[in-house]
This record gives sequence, C-alpha cells and structure tokens, in this order.
Amino acid sequence: MVTPALAVGTEQKKRYLLQAGEGFSNLVPDEDVQTAVWQYNRQTPGPVIRIKQGETLQIPFSNKLIQPTSIHWHGLRIENRMDGVPGITQSVIEPGTEFLYEFTPPDAGTFWYHTHNRSWEQMARGLHGVLIVEEKEPIVVDQDLVWVIDDWLIDRDGNIDESSLGALHDWAHGGRVGNLLTVNGKSQPEFPVFRGERIRLRLVNVANARTMNLRFTQVSPQAIAIDGQPIVPAPLENSALTLAPGQRIDLILDMTMSPGERMAMEFYLGEEAMVAASLVCDLYKVVREVPLDTNIQLTKNPLSTTLDMANARTVDLSIEGGAMGRMREAVFNGRKLPIQELVKEKKIWAINGIAGLSDEPLFSVERGETVVIQMDNKNRWPHAMHIHGHHFINIDEGEGFDVVWRDTFLLNPNGKKRFGFVADNPGKWLIHCHMIEHQAGGMVTWFEVV
Ligand code: C2O
Ligand code: CU
Repeated sequence: MVTPALAVGTEQKKRYLLQAGEGFSNLVPDEDVQTAVWQYNRQTPGPVIRIKQGETLQIPFSNKLIQPTSIHWHGLRIENRMDGVPGITQSVIEPGTEFLYEFTPPDAGTFWYHTHNRSWEQMARGLHGVLIVEEKEPIVVDQDLVWVIDDWLIDRDGNIDESSLGALHDWAHGGRVGNLLTVNGKSQPEFPVFRGERIRLRLVNVANARTMNLRFTQVSPQAIAIDGQPIVPAPLENSALTLAPGQRIDLILDMTMSPGERMAMEFYLGEEAMVAASLVCDLYKVVREVPLDTNIQLTKNPLSTTLDMANARTVDLSIEGGAMGRMREAVFNGRKLPIQELVKEKKIWAINGIAGLSDEPLFSVERGETVVIQMDNKNRWPHAMHIHGHHFINIDEGEGFDVVWRDTFLLNPNGKKRFGFVADNPGKWLIHCHMIEHQAGGMVTWFEVV
C-alpha cells in the first residue's frame, strides 16, 4: 500500500506530519480480530514517505504515546543531530511533546524509520515505516511496490504478547521471534498486476529479530539495490534471498506469467514454505507481450567509495555473550561485573568487553578517514550488525554481489569479517546489532567522527 505523501511545500522542501499513537490493526488472518498496536499516523506499518533526491524533508513529529520515544532514519546519511538516538544525538521526546526532524538525504533509495527508544518494546508494538528517496533519473517501471515484512508475537486472543516483552531468555538467545508474519501489516496480501508489467519491489525487514528467508515462484527477480545503494543488477540465485532485520533489497520483476496466474513470495521456515504475499495477474488486460528491455541499472549515489587502505584506521570489534557463550565478565556503567551481576542488569552481550554504551567512544576518527572494522563474532548467534550514518563494504573475498555497500550486515556465528568505509559524516554514531533485543542486552557501541 503505497500511501502518497501528504507533502506540501516547495520543490526543495517537503513537510510531512508524523504522529505516534495507539491504535488497532487487523494483522491476523481472521478479519474480525483487531490487534492493539502502536502506530505512526494510524497506519500499520507507518506511512510510506516519498521524497525526491535533493529535497529537504521536514517532519514535525508529535508523540501521543504513553512512553517517551524518538525516530531514527535508518540508512540515511544525514546530519548527526537528526539521527534520533536518545542520549547520543537528542533527548527523548516525551509523551505529549513534539520534535522537528529536518534533513536532506544525499542518497536515493529504500530506507526506513523506526523508534529508537525502548525499541525492543516499541518496535514489537509496530513503530516503523518506510522512507523512499526517489532517483533524479528514475528507471522505467510500471509499478513501484513496497513490501514491509514483519514478525509479530501474538497471543491466543490476537493481542501482542505482552508477558514476553523484555524476556531475558529472548535477549540471550535469538531475540524476540514471533508467530505471525505479515507483509504491509497483513497476512498473505495479494496485489494486482498485469501481464507484461515491470515491477520494482522494495523489501524491508522491520522485524525485531527474525531473519527472513524468502523465495519467489514463477519469476526470476533481479536485484538492483541493497540497503538503499545501487548494485550492478544481478539475478537472485535460485530466486531466493536472505533479509536480516534492518536490511532492504530492491528487485525488478517482469510479470511474464499468463493472465490469471499468480506469483508468490514465500517464507522459508526450515523445510516449510509459506506464502508471504502474492502478485496476481489480471485475467484480461495485458500490458505488453515482450518484457521491457530498458535499463535497470540505477545511478550511483554520492557515497565515498574510495578507501584509503594504506592509511586506514583499523578497529577490532569483538562480540561476546549470549546463551551458551563464554562471557564471564564485562564492564557495565564503568564497573567490571561478573556474569551473574550482568544477568541481573540484563546486559548479557558485550562489545570489546563493554556491555551497553560507555562514556568514551569505541574509536574517534577525523572526518574523511578510512576505517576498517574487523568484526569477530565470538559466540553462538548470528547478528545483524548496523552502523549509523554510513554505508560500508565487506572487504574480504567471496561476497555474492560485486560491489555491495550496506548499512546492516548479517554476521554468522563465529564469523569474522572486515568492513571498510570512509568516515565522512561528523558526529556520534552507533554500531549495534539490529536484532533489537541484542542491542538492548548490551550489543551496542558508538564512534565519533570529528
Ligand atoms: Cu535501524 Cu540504531 O537502528
Ligand atoms: Cu545480535
């Protein structure tokens, strides 16, 4: 459901009102069941905000929730004071108060926004939406669809399971994993298409913790962008892909099915497949018999992609903790605590021996410096590592796509990877796991660009 932006203003500046509040949504397959959720602008997921590259977006935001909140603009390389991180870039936005977000995203692409306060609860209740920055020279497509993929933990009455919110067991294991998968807040929605159409499909995984294994039937999608950054178009291997929490992918799908046929995106849960959403081809109308032959390569964004490896600042980042882990102690709030004490504080993950945010940054670099972060995942769990305000590239050999600049990378258990980027955005930026319960449980640090 692409909601047209309620945007007014000049060509250069768009104003978009956003309000967080409580509401209801029909998430479960039974149409009569309404689930109490938290929403932006009374929608689940929040509205799709669209602007053009180069435009300034002004968002007067009001908090009608019973908790303080903030909004983080995930993947957007914007000014630090608009990054939405309480205690680091702004104060929390108290209930009944407002905050004016304003920024000019440099990159075109598929991005998203979500709460960054008590995210383990507020995201589980539904506070997220998509932000699309349209290319100055867009590629030709017939439809531009956004599929927001989410995972909810719902109790027997169709309510969000509240008893498990904040459960330490989840925090120490794979995070809050749900029992209801939705696309755009619906169970197995269907979208009408016509034979011959070219669809741009933007997938966003907004789940707290679930990594989505997806596969397409009938069509062979081509990937054209990852985490908002264009790539050299490439077909998906086996028409399948993995999308970790926080990640996005833009696909091109040509509707080569016959009238009346449908194409499904399926979730893979172990051996089992389940329809996530479908494209249903109209019985009568045909748009074209031969698929389009126009360019699908997106124009590059103004991202610094030249790494100065000779003078790079190398930083080690090792991740410890979690269930079945070997962590015995870590520093929390400036004090070294044994694991029993850390458990009481619910800080069961640590980066370089520190659980949660410390006063000092993990590292501090000068603007323009090349940074290489060597991540060492010394525990039994995968982690979706996210860096704020920058996109980075895996500089090890053997990645699937040629050149991929991500903002969130899925690190395997015991995996070691090196990530390079140019630290060209001044300010204080977080690095954390996007399995939100891991972040809450201590897997978060920050660095400074001066
Ligand atoms: Cu989308 Cu700090 O995260
Ligand atoms: Cu994690």
